[in-house]
Amino acid sequence: MAVRVRKAVFPVGGLGTRFLPATKALPKEMLPLVDKPLIHYAVEEARAAGIEEFIFVTGRGKSAIEDHFDHSHELEELLERRGSWEQLNSLRDWLPPPGKVAYTRQQEPLGLGHAVWCARHLIGDEPFAVLLADDVFLAPTPCLKQMVDAYPGKGGMVAVEPVDSAHISSYGVIDVKRKNGESVFEVRGLVEKPLPKDAPSNLAVVGRYILTPIVFDYLNRQERGKGGEIQLTDALSWMAGKAPFYGIQINGKRFDCGNKSGYLQANIAFALEREDLRDELAAYLRTVKL
Ligand code: UTP
Repeated sequence: MAVRVRKAVFPVGGLGTRFLPATKALPKEMLPLVDKPLIHYAVEEARAAGIEEFIFVTGRGKSAIEDHFDHSHELEELLERRGSWEQLNSLRDWLPPPGKVAYTRQQEPLGLGHAVWCARHLIGDEPFAVLLADDVFLAPTPCLKQMVDAYPGKGGMVAVEPVDSAHISSYGVIDVKRKNGESVFEVRGLVEKPLPKDAPSNLAVVGRYILTPIVFDYLNRQERGKGGEIQLTDALSWMAGKAPFYGIQINGKRFDCGNKSGYLQANIAFALEREDLRDELAAYLRTVKL
């Protein structure tokens, strides 16, 4: 029987310093994209890919995320009294089922690799997805669903996109064996934030991964990489030498909501997709003098 990806890890323990002061008291992952928090999109995407168990790696000051994925009894009673059934149902419908959400705490933000390692006891012995809420996709098929559909049932997989050389040193970059135009291909290794001249390709890893517990064999060593952080990219590079490892070029547009410009662009793009907002926003944009 094919191995299914049933569990997803959402690392939300970072400090979000690029968004200060907005993120002083508000988790970056709770910033609204139109009218839903970034983390809400990531959970919806995971559900669309068939994920059944949701594991959040949180940290200090992140309790708003736990509250978001729970009932708010006062609010629900108020909506009930008002007869706002549509709003009430939309709040209730997407809550993950009881017992299917787990929270573990990254006591110090030591890096993305460390955050994923903190979830090791909740993963057990099966492949799992990792979703970074600050990468958001507008795609005909949700990004993780594209990955799960292409996943061969063993080894690791990363979502990648072509990035120009001026920006390549902000990403993990794959060393790849790719035949013309295939969208799924074998990865030989990864390099974290290379200088443009050292980049092994123009394909950058974006915030979606399918991993197997073998990755914890590396992360258990707690080795520090670039910037003194425990880097997930270093663990993936090690894993690529030990197990089958694939890259998939995602069909869709990614927005990096971890930086201000990407976040603003995402808000415009997502609002223009909405029937209730499109006309008014487009009319306003046409009046903007550049
Ligand atoms: P980022 O590096 O984009 O987030 O990590 P950050 O460190 O919070 O942001 P800046 O650079 O200071 O603005 C991507 C994801 O990984 C999580 C973050 O919460 C974010 O969702 N992360 C990062 C952790 O969970 N733990 C860490 O130690 C680092």
